[in-house]
Amino acid sequence: MTSGNNMLEGKTIILGITGSIAAFKGADIASKLTRAGANVTVVMTEPACRFITPLTLESITGNQAVTSLWQETGGINHITLAEKADMVLIAPATASIIARLAGGFADDLLSCLVLATKSPVVIAPAMHTAMYENKLTGQNIQKLKECGFMIVEPGEGRLASGAYGKGRLADVEVIIGAVKLKLGVNGDLAGKKIVVTAGGTRESLDPVRYIGNRSSGKTGYEIAQAARNRGACVKLVTTAGLPGETVGMEVFEIEAAQDMLVTVRELVKDADCLIMAAAVADFKPEKPLSSKMKKSDRAVNIKLIPVPDILSEVKGKFLRVGFAAETENLEYNARLKMKNKDLDLVVANDVSGKGAGFGSDYNKVTLIYRDQTTKDYPLMAKSHVADILLDEIAGLF
Ligand code: PMT
Repeated sequence: MTSGNNMLEGKTIILGITGSIAAFKGADIASKLTRAGANVTVVMTEPACRFITPLTLESITGNQAVTSLWQETGGINHITLAEKADMVLIAPATASIIARLAGGFADDLLSCLVLATKSPVVIAPAMHTAMYENKLTGQNIQKLKECGFMIVEPGEGRLASGAYGKGRLADVEVIIGAVKLKLGVNGDLAGKKIVVTAGGTRESLDPVRYIGNRSSGKTGYEIAQAARNRGACVKLVTTAGLPGETVGMEVFEIEAAQDMLVTVRELVKDADCLIMAAAVADFKPEKPLSSKMKKSDRAVNIKLIPVPDILSEVKGKFLRVGFAAETENLEYNARLKMKNKDLDLVVANDVSGKGAGFGSDYNKVTLIYRDQTTKDYPLMAKSHVADILLDEIAGLF
């Protein structure tokens, strides 16, 4: 199985930490990469060691942290590290390291190894807003981009100085998403345009209330991230506020089924595949109220009318992958949906099972093909389901 969501397994990542107040977040980055199965070696500049100790990073990664060209490691530090790296990530990256890299300097271990490596380099700047917005920093960042470096834009927020503005190190999840995007760019789905829907649609009852469902969006997000990690161009159509980073994806936030229909119909025009993981409403209130329904002690009758079936409405040459959320007669109902919605592949999942389906981190799925081939899988993590599904889709391509 090609692993999109577990793609860091066994990868060697050199994590450069420089002298920013955000250096302490390097420990969290090192920890998350290590837990994801990567082999992380931390390289620290001298100023970084004033914010966090090499010992901390060694304890997290299990590898010797390297702080100098002259440190005894049994090899020529900058060459050994440059050659063994699958990726060099510098997070946080100060204005100083950015300027030195842009100038092709090789005056310390980190700048030497970046100059020596043929592997992808990801830079996550962190500095005071005025420094980040300085033209000189902007020119240096632009030059690095032109040289193929990936820059992870800093966030906005409270800075060390107490001021508020752009310059905070990007969220760790976003930085790791960027690492996966950069590492997976030539993956087995490279060049494929995949539209993924996620989450539960919301059908308005009045300006305050809606009829929704228990979908958390996890399934759709895991599929979108795994596809991105395997090089696909991912367009994610999602109901608001769902879990997970969406680095490198085009995200379309919608609420109601009708909005999802309009958006999906547009996006599939040049898509290779549509994966409908979203829990789309089947019904909506016929007459949503324009003002909040007042509390009363009398029963309230709400007339529900059908909403369009997106999979039935959108046609085209793309691969059509649907889900079937069932609580009984799983295969029978899934095959019916396969036929009615003209699907190439349906992911049948029993959402009545404890710990599977809506909101859970796990799902138990049966894949059914147009030719009626069936593949049944045990309960497993949704990240694993995503990679299995994408393996099957890659095969159908
Ligand atoms: O989001 P999670 O918490 O991770 O939960 C995952 C999930 C249970 C939502 C997911 O695994 C799932 O089953 N999604 C499909 C839910 C659903 O709407 O199933 P359905 O059997 O009602 O619809 C069948 C297919 O038609 C689905 O692909 C659905 O997206 C699509 N559909 C449904 C209604 C509609 N009006 N238009 C559609 O295109």
